[in-house]
Amino acid sequence: MTAVPPRFAALVAERREGDVAVEVRDLAPDDLPPGEVTVRVGWSSVNYKDGLATTAGGKVAKISPLVPGVDLAGEVVASEADGIAPGDAVIVHGHDLGVAHHGGYAEYARVPAAWVVPLPAALTARQAMALGTAGFTAGLSVVQLEQRGLAPVDGPVLVTGATGGVGSTAVGMLAERGYEVVASTGKADAVAWLRDLGAAAVVGRDEVVGDASRPLGSERWAGAVDCVGGDTLAGILRTLRRDAAVAASGLTGGSALATTVFPFILRGVALLGVDSVACPRDVRLEVWRRLAGDLRPRGLDESIAVEIDGLGDDLRSALRTVLAGRMRGRTVVRIGGGR
Ligand SMILES: NC(=O)c1ccc[n+]([C@@H]2O[C@H](COP(=O)([O-])OP(=O)(O)OC[C@H]3O[C@@H](n4cnc5c(N)ncnc54)[C@H](OP(=O)(O)O)[C@@H]3O)[C@@H](O)[C@H]2O)c1
Repeated sequence: MTAVPPRFAALVAERREGDVAVEVRDLAPDDLPPGEVTVRVGWSSVNYKDGLATTAGGKVAKISPLVPGVDLAGEVVASEADGIAPGDAVIVHGHDLGVAHHGGYAEYARVPAAWVVPLPAALTARQAMALGTAGFTAGLSVVQLEQRGLAPVDGPVLVTGATGGVGSTAVGMLAERGYEVVASTGKADAVAWLRDLGAAAVVGRDEVVGDASRPLGSERWAGAVDCVGGDTLAGILRTLRRDAAVAASGLTGGSALATTVFPFILRGVALLGVDSVACPRDVRLEVWRRLAGDLRPRGLDESIAVEIDGLGDDLRSALRTVLAGRMRGRTVVRIGGGR
């Protein structure tokens, strides 16, 4: 395909002797995987899963070498798909992108048409990646909680991992929708930042975990967005109010869940699983439509997004930062740039 230059830059992660080498390389058009749509990547972002895909033992990379990057926004340069044409502004995330199929950390990407989402007119490509996989997951969490009946009048809604990608976008989203947001963080110096994003109160991680020896704690949360899992999720289940729900998407605090059945059978609470990867296309399109509108988080341009330029050292450093749990907000990666 002539739409792709003979050489283009990509960040490549390759398993070598028990480790993973991560370096910028020149790729050729034939290095791109099969797919009906070729995109010139403008922007990508840094998610926890990207950190996992670039480290030994991360257990998410399914191919080697791999171009990581679980999300991207850019412009179509070639298409064999009905309804998608060169020049279209698009978003791609989820499915195998950046784990079993070359992802967004390259100047060009080629993907199946079914993975392609049109960029909503009210979002720039940079804003779409300031949301990215994390913001989409926060949006899906809010949609699932509201489908179960959550409304702002119900009371405080907890967001865990609040300074991270899913957490910070959820805080900004819920605050903008009129919820009383309680943000949980392990970063003592982030209290003012979280309040600016819209948190009514900020609590420490230990307070959310509470007393793990008791099957139930006092009823506190009308709902919760949790991307931490482990003891944190168990603590939330113990302290949800009657008939409330937690939308669970992540495992930065651990993948094991030690709970009893009591929150479920004595308080009717619900554990809602959130999967942004295999989420059906109609839901994906609808959530993106709403992310550009009524789910758009407060602070999307000013507070949430930190920008890094290109595929070099700053990106590699950001991948280490996200794995260490030290990220604040969302990190967008300018690759080709553009609107
Ligand atoms: N299910 C899905 O489709 C889906 C989609 C996207 C992400 N995820 C998952 O959601 C999680 C968050 O992703 P992300 O991209 O938002 O990551 P992130 O930016 O690194 O945010 C995670 C946050 O979790 C908190 N945290 C980190 N280590 C912790 C620990 N040991 N104990 C308790 N809290 C800890 C930190 O926030 P504080 O310092 O503020 O506490 C951190 O900023 C990941 O597990 C990711 O794989 C799942």
